[in-house]
Amino acid sequence: MIAKLNGIGEQALKDVAEAGSLDALEQVRVAVLGKKGALSEVLKGLGTVTAEERPKIGAVANDWKRKLEGALEDRKAALESVALEARLQSERLDASLPARLPHRGSLHPVTTTTRRIIEICAKLGFDVMTGPEIETEFLNFDAVNIPADHPARDMQDTFFMGPGVLLRTHTSSVQMRAMRSQSWPVRILCPGAVYRCDSDATHSPMFHQVEGLWVDRDVKMSDLKGVLSTLARELFGAEAKIRLRPSYFPFVEPGAEVDVSCFQCKGTPQSGCRICKGTGWLEILGAGMVHPRLLELAGFKDAGSGLTGFAFGMGVERIAMLLHQIPDLRLMFQGDVRFLRQF
Ligand code: DAH
Repeated sequence: MIAKLNGIGEQALKDVAEAGSLDALEQVRVAVLGKKGALSEVLKGLGTVTAEERPKIGAVANDWKRKLEGALEDRKAALESVALEARLQSERLDASLPARLPHRGSLHPVTTTTRRIIEICAKLGFDVMTGPEIETEFLNFDAVNIPADHPARDMQDTFFMGPGVLLRTHTSSVQMRAMRSQSWPVRILCPGAVYRCDSDATHSPMFHQVEGLWVDRDVKMSDLKGVLSTLARELFGAEAKIRLRPSYFPFVEPGAEVDVSCFQCKGTPQSGCRICKGTGWLEILGAGMVHPRLLELAGFKDAGSGLTGFAFGMGVERIAMLLHQIPDLRLMFQGDVRFLRQF
């Protein structure tokens, strides 16, 4: 039996030395020291030996057990340090590799276009003034000369919040707020969101406008044209020209729709210009001379006669779409980063 134990022990020592991995080492341990391992199997025969021999055999078995446990421990430590070394080699950190930067985000085209318009007009002396998006029916409609039976007031076009209260349908609602909150001259620009019951490729239930208002002694239509020409040149390039077409808006008289020469075909109608559809012109805003009724309602008491003004209003998305050649208004509001990253 002692010879058998010695044989098992010698072989196991060899196996431990040869084990090439932690897994292989564990297999060696189980095979010799495990509950059903070779050592235990031999010791099962202890019952058949004499009482005299039994302690000697037990001592030999314990000896081997201790020796093998020590060998296993040493080999395990050696294998672990080899594995660690290999991992350190393979995972070497290259601190000189440029980092992959996170995307920093960018300003929405509605924001950049609004800011650009404000920047241009600020140089012409306009201050920014904002008004509430939830507005009274009075300031949105009555105060800008839109009578009670005007179709624009229809529930189909306007989001009413309750009797006499609505989501403003245009930033012209800020005109009367401006005129009543300060004395003349008034020279303000009001950017902001507006709301209408309308939704398709060119209409959104929420969109943005910028309203301009200039009231002073002897303000003329030529002043309006000067401001709008400057705005068009700054926005669309030095060659941009404007033209005014007579049009009707209840809050101005006379009123006009304003076109800018097409920045693509430079205002020379060419068949095939997709931007202006071959007309050479792009409609960008509405404008006119402030209706006398508004000035009356504003009640500039100290002004006497001779106070006049002009106003203009434009859709920010429309201008952004022209500047960036964005084909569908809805892209502006879908929040798709693939779209937004382009700006
Ligand atoms: N409020 C008009 C709209 O929403 C735009 C507009 C037209 C504003 C003419 C003006 C103006 O100040 O004079 O369509």
